[in-house]
Amino acid sequence: MRIVLVGPPGAGKGTQAHVLAKTLSIPHISTGDLFRANISQSTQLGLEAKAYMDAGKLVPDEITIGMAKDRMSQPDAAKGFLLDGFPRNLGQAKALDEILADAGIALDGVLDLEVPEDEVVRRIAGRRLCRNDGSHVFHVDYNPPAQPGVCDECGGELYQRTDDTEEKVRVRLEEYHSKTEPIIGYYADQGLLVTIPALGKVSEVTERAIEALRGK
Ligand code: AP5
Ligand code: MG
Repeated sequence: MRIVLVGPPGAGKGTQAHVLAKTLSIPHISTGDLFRANISQSTQLGLEAKAYMDAGKLVPDEITIGMAKDRMSQPDAAKGFLLDGFPRNLGQAKALDEILADAGIALDGVLDLEVPEDEVVRRIAGRRLCRNDGSHVFHVDYNPPAQPGVCDECGGELYQRTDDTEEKVRVRLEEYHSKTEPIIGYYADQGLLVTIPALGKVSEVTERAIEALRGK
């Protein structure tokens, strides 16, 4: 399957993508995780993206689209993928359409996670990520690791993202409303969109997601 996950910052895209990717045996491709990996390895791409991410702004399309395209062309993505955080504006959505059309493939569905803004802020404030693998995501209250500061999955050190401050979250939400939300209508018009409430336990949201994607 080829799926896009969309939703505001902190909605649970990464958390759900991690579980769904295992269940569906397809890679989880997060542009946010790819940027953070590039930053921690001090690559040229990471250096270019860092200032935008630190400000809570979208990284320019010229950088983002090429990186996403490269990742989607890796052998493990040949039979499908779950895109988390890409596309994030109409330009990226149209670029993705072209990439897929050139490869003779198409999206199966776009899963939209709906979460009220006050919950998003609570989720982001308590989030902790693994330094070894950014797809290992915890929350100090809602999904605490067995040992504080240590990843349950690989023993890596847990840390807080530098863009997870109240001020940056406000900017990220503005970016989401002005630039990302328009893609929801774009995909609805193509009959690809399924929207689910993303409140409740992680496992309940996963069940809803699988049910919603079943017909796709
Ligand atoms: P990115 O890394 O994609 O961040 P985001 O979209 O802001 O989303 P988050 O990762 O913050 O949230 P999430 O929905 O993944 O939630 P999570 O599962 O972690 O992007 C970061 C930056 O990179 C952007 O600002 C931009 O600069 C750049 N960027 C990335 N992609 C780009 C693109 N395509 N174009 C341009 N720029 C781009 O969950 C959050 C917390 O909630 C966790 O603690 C989790 O444990 C908890 N939680 C999850 N589910 C539940 C639940 N059901 N109940 C209770 N708690 C829950
Ligand atoms: Mg994420």
